[in-house]
Amino acid sequence: MTAKTPPPPGKFITIEGGEGVGKSTNADLIQSVLESRGCEVVVTREPGGTALGEALRSILLSADIESPVAMAELLIIFAARAQHLTTVIEPALAAGKWVLCDRFTDATYAYQGWGRNIDQRAIASLEQLVQGARRPDLTVLLDMDPSLGLARAKERAELDRFEQEELAFFNRVREGYLARAKEEPARWLIIDASKTLDEVTTVIGQALNDWFDNA
Ligand code: TMP
Repeated sequence: MTAKTPPPPGKFITIEGGEGVGKSTNADLIQSVLESRGCEVVVTREPGGTALGEALRSILLSADIESPVAMAELLIIFAARAQHLTTVIEPALAAGKWVLCDRFTDATYAYQGWGRNIDQRAIASLEQLVQGARRPDLTVLLDMDPSLGLARAKERAELDRFEQEELAFFNRVREGYLARAKEEPARWLIIDASKTLDEVTTVIGQALNDWFDNA
């Protein structure tokens, strides 16, 4: 009997981008690349990923209830994150699983920091408090002109509270993501999401396999 090569120890991968950039479709692709490498993958999302987190997500996205002020929005996001990290993400990583998360704290820097103009230091303090040293090992940024992504989001469904923001907000969000990616290039894969789905999936598949081989 030949010994089976053990899968590599779990890592934490996040997917980020503006509205309508195709995160869900590409999450499926990333999951299958990881599984083809023998990884057990837990797919999750923020805000959300737990019963409490999903309830908080409904509040955050609802356009029908009182809008939280920016600081309340930030604290709700980190409350959901604390629950998610402790009950889902950390246990999965500790068990050697891979975690693929649709959005994480880079979204908070981009949306609440750049988008809502909350001081980055306030976000950094909460990040430290809630996450300790936990940071993503790899972040896939699906980058696209926000006017294109918003047009796609509008075709899909009724717009949620974030999607109803004006274009200038999403231009700041994009700027925030790109600035963060520039600060820490080794962690980020920047993908041009304006290309066709076939082109995007090919590029992500190749980039992910290269990252895997060099990790
Ligand atoms: P989604 O629809 O892309 O899953 O994300 C829901 C919305 O939540 C999206 O408009 C971005 C927003 N969001 C923040 O503003 N800050 C955060 O930290 C996260 C995780 C999401």
